[in-house]
Amino acid sequence: MRANTSAPDVDPSGAADAFAVRLETEGLVLLEGRSFSLTSAEADLLDPSHGDGRAKNISLGAGGVRGAAEADPDLDRLRALMERYRDWSRDTLCDLAPRYRSWLEIGRTSFRTREVADGAASPRKDDRRLHVDAFASQPTQGRRILRVFVNINPSGEGRVWRVGEDFEAHARRFVPSARRLAPGESWALKTLGVTRSRRTLYDQLMLQLHDQAKLDEAYQAGAPAREMVFPSGAAWIVYTDSVVHAAIAGRFALEQTFYLPLEAMAAPAAAPARVLERITGRSLLPA
Ligand code: SIN
Ligand code: FE
Repeated sequence: MRANTSAPDVDPSGAADAFAVRLETEGLVLLEGRSFSLTSAEADLLDPSHGDGRAKNISLGAGGVRGAAEADPDLDRLRALMERYRDWSRDTLCDLAPRYRSWLEIGRTSFRTREVADGAASPRKDDRRLHVDAFASQPTQGRRILRVFVNINPSGEGRVWRVGEDFEAHARRFVPSARRLAPGESWALKTLGVTRSRRTLYDQLMLQLHDQAKLDEAYQAGAPAREMVFPSGAAWIVYTDSVVHAAIAGRFALEQTFYLPLEAMAAPAAAPARVLERITGRSLLPA
């Protein structure tokens, strides 16, 4: 039962939930007829010299802009661009899935200026390898990770992903060999400041799926996956905690992360927490 029954999205026919159901069950939806583009006054921001050379992306969060070059004279314009994208993403999502409006938690906004194919990250950080998203230091405690992407490549280059098997098949493959939390481990990680909040059994399993898949060379080479090309100008929304994905080529994208609690789901049985609970036969989140 929704806590907020006064929300205007109560719809006995369920039509208002059609997009949310589709997004939650299909995981990735390419937006038709909606996009975000840079204004002519923002076009010069598509320049790799804005990065600090260390961070993977330039990003915006509660603490301000991260990953930009120190004393970048365009810092305010970069921030304004990411704010404009954040607001567009939120409005688009709330318009398509009105039931999310009262639950949406806004995460980081990122401006991805690097060529994906160049990334020489460690295997665990290498997003060119198939994975579901899970963050070592930021347990979601069951909340979903929803991301809105737009390819803003100015020379028409597509952003290329590989999209893998469905979440349940992926989970069944890696859950049996997943390392479980040791007694006191979740408490220690939080106390030592390794994690921002307690790592739940759910977070531990998700992190294990992420790490095991990325570190498994045979899986990476032979896993079932199809290639998807998002043309320049395309926008897409993805539950990256359930869609097995890898970014293999492309440059210049904007991405907005949102978090949604399980209570917001229109199709809760499709949520990774519920799938993992069915597979393991135990509850993975604190009551
Ligand atoms: C990822 O979420 O793994 C990377 C997606 C992208 O940058 O296109
Ligand atoms: Fe990812």
